Amino acid sequence: MPSNLAGKVALVTGSSAGIGKAIALKFAENGANLILHGKDSTPELGQDVVKEVISLGREAIFEEADINNYPEVKRMVDRGIERFGKIDILVVSGGAVALFGKARFFRDTDPEDYFDLAKIQWLNRAYCVKAAINYMIERQSGKIVMLGTDAGRWPTPGESMVGASGAALVLMTKTLAQEFARWKIRINTISLTVISDSPLIRDMLGSDHPVAKVFKKALEKQPFPVTQNDIAEAALFLASDVSNAITGQTLSINGGLCYPG
Ligand SMILES: NC(=O)c1ccc[n+]([C@@H]2O[C@H](COP(=O)([O-])OP(=O)(O)OC[C@H]3O[C@@H](n4cnc5c(N)ncnc54)[C@H](O)[C@@H]3O)[C@@H](O)[C@H]2O)c1
Repeated sequence: MPSNLAGKVALVTGSSAGIGKAIALKFAENGANLILHGKDSTPELGQDVVKEVISLGREAIFEEADINNYPEVKRMVDRGIERFGKIDILVVSGGAVALFGKARFFRDTDPEDYFDLAKIQWLNRAYCVKAAINYMIERQSGKIVMLGTDAGRWPTPGESMVGASGAALVLMTKTLAQEFARWKIRINTISLTVISDSPLIRDMLGSDHPVAKVFKKALEKQPFPVTQNDIAEAALFLASDVSNAITGQTLSINGGLCYPG
């Protein structure tokens, strides 16, 4: 199926590494110019992705911002607009690594961490949509793709709070789809389980994080492996015109691990 993003500008958050980076490079290969974003202890990561996008013949800038801080997210979006004049596509990924360290089985979860855990799949997604939506409304067009978790669609031990924020994202996707349709803006969510080649999972499996054993078991039980490229292909589909009839949906890409309704 052709997925031509020629002439489009895409903002992909969390694109200095991991799944967001795979999505950004997939979009660049398909013709998009990129507003890249991340927040890393190694600031060179973002500039390296800028270089990769430019080597594919596209334009790119990198903006650092804490995705959990609305004023920083707004500044990132506004700088992207200053540079490119529009945002056709918003993909919201990233930010999990810092906060997932606080995920625990429920009886061990500190109530002081509840709010941060709710940000991971839900509130920081809302911050990014809020910051970009008026620019899309002005142009009466836009595609939004958010990354979430199947822990929001299927009970997953150790992810009661993260899963609850994922469930909130699923409902928010439907509600925003209804609100935004009048401006021809489509919004969908991709829901993930364990992405075998992501740095997040590699680091988690090698750690003594209390929830790591749940991830190991999921990888063993999953009939088909899922890679970052699989997610990038799905994001490309949802960002391009070939999916114009789809909005408000949550697509689980989980290698057959579970079957959320
Ligand atoms: N990797 C998996 O197996 C998995 C499983 C379930 C859900 N997910 C979903 O997929 C998304 C992407 O996952 P990933 O594997 O790429 O890991 P990730 O969420 O850690 O993304 C890495 C990116 O996030 C950025 N980042 C980290 N902290 C940030 C902060 N405070 N503010 C802004 N950016 C920050 C990094 O700079 C990097 O670009 C996650 O956010 C999550 O919603 C992933």
